Amino acid sequence: MAKTLTKEQRPLPATHEEKLAELRTHMAEIQKQENPHSQLISILHKAQSLYGYLPNQIMDEVAQTMGVPTAHIWGVATFYHYFKLTPPGRYEIALCLGTACYVKGATQILQAVKDELKIDFGGVTEDGVFSLSPARCLGACGLAPVAMIGDKIHGELTTKKVVQILKDYRKQAEKDK
Ligand code: FES
Repeated sequence: MAKTLTKEQRPLPATHEEKLAELRTHMAEIQKQENPHSQLISILHKAQSLYGYLPNQIMDEVAQTMGVPTAHIWGVATFYHYFKLTPPGRYEIALCLGTACYVKGATQILQAVKDELKIDFGGVTEDGVFSLSPARCLGACGLAPVAMIGDKIHGELTTKKVVQILKDYRKQAEKDK
């Protein structure tokens, strides 16, 4: 299993105020540009990179700052599947379904993950530890089939191996509580 940082090594998460300040700076820069409303996607992208998803409160903030109705922001956020409206799991699993991985048994890996975690694509486990999404190609075709968990690539997966990896992550999450 990929090495995980200890509590001491892990950088402290930015506070809500710090994230909000960064988002406001980003919006202020965009407002100086021509036609700032055409940049809503960039703002939502920034918000999601800061928060991991788009909290309601932040959508309201964007609407207010940019002077557009909240319903419009929701419309943009729900149109693009890329945007997440609920918090992701602590470990986000991106399971590759690209050609190389598909040929090497990605569908069996997917089934093993679904059976183990009892979630489908777009889902989050009840304990909030894992969320699952599909990926097209993670750029590690030589290691197919591949999944990215958090920021680590796990390759040459078998159904047995992936279940063990998930158990290891769950143990780590327990330890970190
Ligand atoms: S197809 Fe899966 S990593 Fe490229």
